[in-house]
Amino acid sequence: MRFFIDTANLEEIRKAKGYGLIDGVTTNPSLFARESQDWRKLAEAICKEVDGPVSLEVIGTTAKEMVKEARDLIKYGPNVVVKIPMIMEGLAAIRELKAMDIPVNCTLIFTPMQALLAAKAGAAFVSPFVGRLDDILHTGLDAVADMVTIFDNYALDTEILVASVRNPLHIQEAALLGADVVTVPFKVLERIAKHPLTDLGLAAFLKDWEKAPGAKAAKKAAPAKRAAAKKAPAKKTAKK
Ligand code: E4P
Repeated sequence: MRFFIDTANLEEIRKAKGYGLIDGVTTNPSLFARESQDWRKLAEAICKEVDGPVSLEVIGTTAKEMVKEARDLIKYGPNVVVKIPMIMEGLAAIRELKAMDIPVNCTLIFTPMQALLAAKAGAAFVSPFVGRLDDILHTGLDAVADMVTIFDNYALDTEILVASVRNPLHIQEAALLGADVVTVPFKVLERIAKHPLTDLGLAAFLKDWEKAPGAKAAKKAAPAKRAAAKKAPAKKTAKK
């Protein structure tokens, strides 16, 4: 399963990239509104920073407007995927963009049938919003499970990109269901790696190490070794 980060914040993108944790980025108008930089500059910088698909969303609501915007958005980078909302005009736009080889992420999907329509129109990704369904007492991941079954039944190429993720369980369940991609806010990404038993275990190992014969001596010797290494110029070794 690929991990995208759901943000327009360059710092978060760089941090997640530093941990080797991201395969792509999804943005939306609300996420850009949280940033202080001009969205155009930011979109360009994100596309440069990320080695993977970057979803940029259109604002237009007619097929004509969406196609026009999509043609502008793809200029921000070769990795742009145009986000089109799941409305009837959106379906027409997806069809046109598919014919132009412009990849689309169909967003604001809440039912398996919406996902099927978007896939039939030619979307590269469909984005079911699981958190927002949970918010209104529907189980978002049930919709994803049905999408996986339907897409498998017809061997559809469209990828299921689980969005509106609120917690690690959403991600685990999406993985169990076989969703292709999950897009995750940075704070949730950090939470997946964390476990109190990991922290306790690490603290205990470090404490016990203090008691290991020779461990203290090794720790004391280390700075002296570093100082000696600084004085002596490092030998150049051939690159492999
Ligand atoms: C997906 O592409 C959307 O940007 C995002 O996941 C929406 O999440 P929210 O429901 O937390 O706003």
